[in-house]
Amino acid sequence: MAAKIITVFNQKGGCGKTMASMQLAASFALGGLRTLLVDMDKQGTSTIWAGQGGIERPFPATVISLAPLREKLIGEIAKHAENYDIVLIDCPPAIESSIPWAALNISDMALIPVIPLMDNVWASREAKELARRAREENPELQTYCIPSMSRRGNVFKACTEILEGDEEIPLLEAGLQQRNAYGESQMFGLSVHGLSGSSAATKEVEELAKIVLSKLGMKTAKKPAKAKVAKQKEAA
Ligand SMILES: Nc1ncnc2c1ncn2[C@@H]1O[C@H](COP(=O)(O)OP(=O)(O)OP(=O)(O)O)[C@@H](O)[C@H]1O
Ligand SMILES: [Mg+2]
Repeated sequence: MAAKIITVFNQKGGCGKTMASMQLAASFALGGLRTLLVDMDKQGTSTIWAGQGGIERPFPATVISLAPLREKLIGEIAKHAENYDIVLIDCPPAIESSIPWAALNISDMALIPVIPLMDNVWASREAKELARRAREENPELQTYCIPSMSRRGNVFKACTEILEGDEEIPLLEAGLQQRNAYGESQMFGLSVHGLSGSSAATKEVEELAKIVLSKLGMKTAKKPAKAKVAKQKEAA
């Protein structure tokens, strides 16, 4: 397969899988990489999100749903991978589903978004266990947690320290903090790159994207192109 494949998964619902997948996909695409995001969640959040901008403001990366294929995703993704540099797979929130398992088996990297709160830390153990088992089948699989929706505060700090303590599945040093810009970007069918006044969010997405690419031995083809900026008052 030509493309590098990244699976974004965690059985915990609402931990930021789709947010991380979409922002990273946009960053890679704006950097000139041929980028495909495969939505494997039957909720279809990524697919619906990508369609919001219409022809006026197309989402920077290609987003398709292959959710009905379930674990049969492998063959179809292999075909698409020939035409892309990077493929992200946004998984549904269920570990007993066969989807994350199948996705991990064809991936170069697994990213587990974790909100640094205790319930998320507990849930991440199950996700990490799945990744460990997948690595027995696919030894090349790199696995990282990414901090998601973090804020300042003692609980966030303490939970981040627990996640940092795992040497086998490390916490990436960059992640996405809780910010209004992320929700706003959904409203316009864009990533944060396409919003005015979202420089802090854009900076952290770019930092995360840079780290992910360097771990995959890749870099963007060019400086991130300017995304089409949404007129935010339209949303009011
Ligand atoms: N960094 C962030 N800052 C602010 N809001 C966020 C952030 N990340 C995600 N959200 C919001 O939190 C909610 C859950 O995020 P998201 O849909 O990415 O999670 P998920 O893990 O994909 O959920 P599901 O398990 O349902 O697929 C969404 O409403 C999203 O807009
Ligand atoms: Mg999701």
